[in-house]
Amino acid sequence: MDARQLKIEAARVALDHVETGMKLGVGSGSTAEEFVRLLAERVESGLRIEAVPTSERTAGLCVELGVPIFSLDEVPQLDLTIDGADEVDGDLQVIKGGGGALLREKIVACASDTVIVIADESKVVDVLGRFPLPIEVNVFGLTATRNAIEQAAGSLGLSGPVDLRKDRDVPFETDGGHHILDASFGRIPDAEALARALQDIPGVVEHGLFLDIVSVAIIAGSSGVRTMKNEGSQNR
Ligand code: A5P
Repeated sequence: MDARQLKIEAARVALDHVETGMKLGVGSGSTAEEFVRLLAERVESGLRIEAVPTSERTAGLCVELGVPIFSLDEVPQLDLTIDGADEVDGDLQVIKGGGGALLREKIVACASDTVIVIADESKVVDVLGRFPLPIEVNVFGLTATRNAIEQAAGSLGLSGPVDLRKDRDVPFETDGGHHILDASFGRIPDAEALARALQDIPGVVEHGLFLDIVSVAIIAGSSGVRTMKNEGSQNR
């Protein structure tokens, strides 16, 4: 099965968790987009949901495919969010933001009763950190913020390049008008400590560590789709 087919399989299983009448957060990225395509087919055949997209790109796809969208201000509390992931560990701690939508994704996830991530097997890791950690930063004082990130990481024994994400030759701009620093620290043994340290830096808008937020991960591999659960997540 190719990578796209695995994403579709995970999305198909996630769709079973969607019930009519739900207020539904809809994630970003290629796996979430497969979910939107399947969701649109269900909407066309009568499923009623109110979708809150986590990015302008996802919003555009929803509109194109006829999925009714609302802002998070119109629908501030959600039953369920379904989103992709860049990395998932065995405790369902997750790195997100490879597509640059991490801020809206985290706001939407934290406004949801339940968060499900969908991914293919390649995203599952023992310890977070193989995927460079996306950190959304204010454009003001970028160098000072980068220095502060390196210092905070260093105090936790972490080091590695912290690169400004580029889109062709210019800095990538998020939907919120911020930049992204991708931090290649390698293995992050204490993700909670790093999350706390990053939150303390004024120029950091949000980071891609989604800790105790995800309650279910639907993982598609060549031998089938499996569901991992985290009973201890804040959102259940
Ligand atoms: C978007 O900012 C991300 O958090 C995505 O959900 C994540 O990068 C997964 O994307 P893919 O499904 O494209 O791998």
